[in-house]
Amino acid sequence: MCGIFGIVTNREQGLGPVLTDAARRLSYRGYDSVGCATFHADHSVDLRKDKGKVDEVASRLGFAEMTGTRGITQLRWATFGTPSTINAQPHFDSDGDLVGAHNGNVVNNVELRLQFAAEGMTVRSENDGESCVHAVERWFDRGFDMVESIRRAYGDLQGDYAFVIGHVGEDKLYAIKKGSGLVVGLTDDTTCVSSDLPSILPLTRRILRIHDGEIAILSPGSVELVRVADGEAIQRDPEEIVETMEAAQKGGYPHFMLKEIHEQPQVARELLHLLDASVDVAGYVEKMRKARHLYLVACGTSYHACMLGAVYLARLAGRAAVPVLAPQFIAQYGPALGPEDVGVFVSQSGETKDVLNALNVARERGVEVLSLVNVIGSTLMVTADRCLPLACGYEISVPATKTFLNQVVAFLYLAMRMGGHPTAMLYDLPRLIEATLQQVEPQIPALEQALLPWHDTYCLGYGATYPIALEGALKLKEVTYIHCEGMLSTEFKHGPLSAVSDAYPVIFVAGPENVPLIVSGINEVSCRGGRTIIIGEEDPRLRANGHDLLVLPKSGPLFSPILGILPLQLLAYRVSVAKGFDPDFPRNLSKTLTVD
Ligand code: AGP
Repeated sequence: MCGIFGIVTNREQGLGPVLTDAARRLSYRGYDSVGCATFHADHSVDLRKDKGKVDEVASRLGFAEMTGTRGITQLRWATFGTPSTINAQPHFDSDGDLVGAHNGNVVNNVELRLQFAAEGMTVRSENDGESCVHAVERWFDRGFDMVESIRRAYGDLQGDYAFVIGHVGEDKLYAIKKGSGLVVGLTDDTTCVSSDLPSILPLTRRILRIHDGEIAILSPGSVELVRVADGEAIQRDPEEIVETMEAAQKGGYPHFMLKEIHEQPQVARELLHLLDASVDVAGYVEKMRKARHLYLVACGTSYHACMLGAVYLARLAGRAAVPVLAPQFIAQYGPALGPEDVGVFVSQSGETKDVLNALNVARERGVEVLSLVNVIGSTLMVTADRCLPLACGYEISVPATKTFLNQVVAFLYLAMRMGGHPTAMLYDLPRLIEATLQQVEPQIPALEQALLPWHDTYCLGYGATYPIALEGALKLKEVTYIHCEGMLSTEFKHGPLSAVSDAYPVIFVAGPENVPLIVSGINEVSCRGGRTIIIGEEDPRLRANGHDLLVLPKSGPLFSPILGILPLQLLAYRVSVAKGFDPDFPRNLSKTLTVD
């Protein structure tokens, strides 16, 4: 994901090393290009940028020798436009007087670029960061000052973003926030701004958090805030950050797992914007559509996403797809594979050996290799014939949470595109994810008590919630060390029912379309003294029959399974912490499994 950093000082000095260090601190987000711009007192600008890693580009382009009074650095993670020198950020306006860079997605970038070109501006790249600069130029060249031009640009730029911009003839930088993070740091003679608090902390611990719809005007050692809506000044005192760097990286959460659970509304929104803007989706969908056999190949959590993906593809596109665990793919389907087949290989890390082994054999048989991957530059991403990124940023916690969510969102999006359905309704999903987290989180502690005394339990689902039950069970196993078996709810009576005794907990994930079947399963457990914990939409039948009901917002059969994973992630997290474990780093497990 992109990251920005800007700095304003009171005298010409060597800013290159400061900007390069800031870029390194932003690099945990994942990126493909890096750039630096420094503004000199004589009104000239030094802009150096290219695709590649920070240290390699910095040494090749000589960032260390860059001097100035103000500077901007940006790490770009491609959404609009391929990774290239011209698409790397920062960007100039038409005549080189304005320089800026952004973080986030400007969703009307394509339309804006056409407008800017028609208005006579020089549009050099396909990148939406350049659109932020032209959106300010549009008004600045009509005689408005910088603040007024940025206020008007805010009305023109749709999407979630933050950007920093400067004019050669001034001694300030300006930054604006809409949906993406933005923090200002202050010392006596320097002011900096960044998309990330941790990138500022080594320079200062006196910080000011910028809110959506605010412009920060940065001068050396001071900052003014202006509200976009009415142009009024805002008073807010800086705060002293006392937390450690690691705590800052956790963004105020005690663990990365909880932080990553709460990042899910945002990453889903960003992925939808990215897919809508991507020129690669149409070709990707076409390959899936034309496949003789379509296989969805992965391990662990990513495999559960494939299972739900297969449900969506059948439902929305009438397309049968075979979800298969990667090590079983060749063992089971190897003899049947051929060049007319397509495999979608799904992985958070892009380095899972089981997945890469399956890919290599499939490729030998001529199978077209598509991928959904989170880690940029990973082996799976670079070796696949076509790749769509999951756009989650780094997932640090070993248990996958936000990457599972975006794998499922990606499949839902692809299924809708394949079935010819408009994708606009998917933008409701991030809001529903947010509402679910708020709604269910206060109810988790009571359920935690129901699980704590037990060494084993079951998590049951049916239809589209079956993969969610498997994923919920995996999360519980992974971080609580309670054995939790995920199962099709209707199978429970065929044997495992014998485990039920007084207060024995069984979790049910109920899809709105399968309530009667789930109610039968609930009653089979409760009439034997078991405690049934139900996750589902408000329904009198679930309320009357279940012991505990964790209510999901009404969202219907497509979204409800996705929302159903959220309470299970939270429950696993809470039980893990209550047992005194570290959910981020469960014993015996590794985030990336590069062994057979
Ligand atoms: C999920 O919480 C686990 N960490 C694990 O099951 C993981 O999904 C599996 O190892 C596959 O990893 P990948 O997505 O990086 O390929």
